[in-house]
Amino acid sequence: MDTVNLGLEDVFIKYTKLTYIDGNKGILRYRGYDVNDLVKNCTFEEVSYLMIYGELPNSGQLKSFVDDLRDHYKLPEHVLDLIAALPRESDTLTMMETAFASMSSGDYKWNQEDDRKQAAKIMGEDLGIISNIYRHKIGLELKNPDRKYGYAEAFLRNCFDNITQEKIDAMNSALIIYIDHEVPASTTTALVASSTLSDMYSCITAAIAALKGPLHGGAAEAAYHQLIEIGKPENVENWFNENILKNNKRLMGFGHRVYKTYDPRMKIFKGIAEKLVETEEQKKNLEIAKNLEEMGVKTYGSKGIYPNTDYYSGLVFNEIGFPIYMFTTLFGFSRVLGWVAHISEYVEEEERLIRPRAIYTGFDKRDFIPLADR
Ligand code: CMC
Repeated sequence: MDTVNLGLEDVFIKYTKLTYIDGNKGILRYRGYDVNDLVKNCTFEEVSYLMIYGELPNSGQLKSFVDDLRDHYKLPEHVLDLIAALPRESDTLTMMETAFASMSSGDYKWNQEDDRKQAAKIMGEDLGIISNIYRHKIGLELKNPDRKYGYAEAFLRNCFDNITQEKIDAMNSALIIYIDHEVPASTTTALVASSTLSDMYSCITAAIAALKGPLHGGAAEAAYHQLIEIGKPENVENWFNENILKNNKRLMGFGHRVYKTYDPRMKIFKGIAEKLVETEEQKKNLEIAKNLEEMGVKTYGSKGIYPNTDYYSGLVFNEIGFPIYMFTTLFGFSRVLGWVAHISEYVEEEERLIRPRAIYTGFDKRDFIPLADR
């Protein structure tokens, strides 16, 4: 008998050499390298090269790749105009969708050489788009990032007047952490679009739509809102009992379809948050988060529900200086690379139109009733 795999749970939709996850042991590797090693030792540009070309670059390869990226920090004029034309209160992911959709030429031909060039171009433009979305949100005039700087630094300099090396390092780590995570909803959406041989910009636009929801990219915002709602470390237990246990609600930033233990990315974000906290407000929020983590693990750990990457990432983004409405977009900023790497791999190596079936459960054949008789 035919069965439906709701949520495509445990369905494998592609082979990949990009990302390995062991959900029981809490392991995440990009092209064989542990995410912890990459975060500790690499710039985002090096890991981007690794994802696109398959190997970590030597210094010559890195220099030419970085030059290529920086050539594309500058956005086409129409993209800046479009972002500026959107109402400032628009959702930042809507702005991101608009910007990416507007760059689709619709005539892109897929092949490895062009895909790699296109990937570097998109990564450069991505930096210009996200930093200018932030500039528009806070009412600053839009401007192209400065090609003098590396990726994380150029991004923060285009957003803020005052940045520190610690914040640049935190941004670099956050960018690496979010690059890829196999085939979550957004990447699967990008793959579905790419399987029709649509163009890369359109595939990214489709993926952004899937990233938006609170069950995927939106969880960091939801998790951070919980901390604000709780207000004080001593309120955690009461809030948890009233809001989560009594109302049978989900603890945001907890649980994962693949991880049944601590998400390794969450541990990195927690470490960064601990290093970055400065103000009393931030220290208080971190303490609330830690108390809530303890309650959550005590209650749900036995069911394999642990904090995921989005649990502490909001704290880190906020400590860097970003407001809550930017969190999901910052996730998307980095994930663009994962989408591009996956769709290139899929189209170049195993392209097949993704066209599943649905089991019909509606009426049997019915006699048509004319409008006048209904
Ligand atoms: N809080 C409380 N209970 C939970 C949670 C949670 N966060 N997550 C799952 N459960 C329970 C759920 O109620 C169900 O219980 P029961 O079997 O008694 O009905 C059981 O765990 C299985 O839940 P499920 O929804 O079938 O599991 P799933 O694999 O679809 O869940 C998830 C994955 C991420 C949608 C879910 O854990 C969730 O909603 N978490 C909160 C949102 C969140 O933090 N999302 C970010 C995911 S990580 C970032 C990313 O990769 O995008």
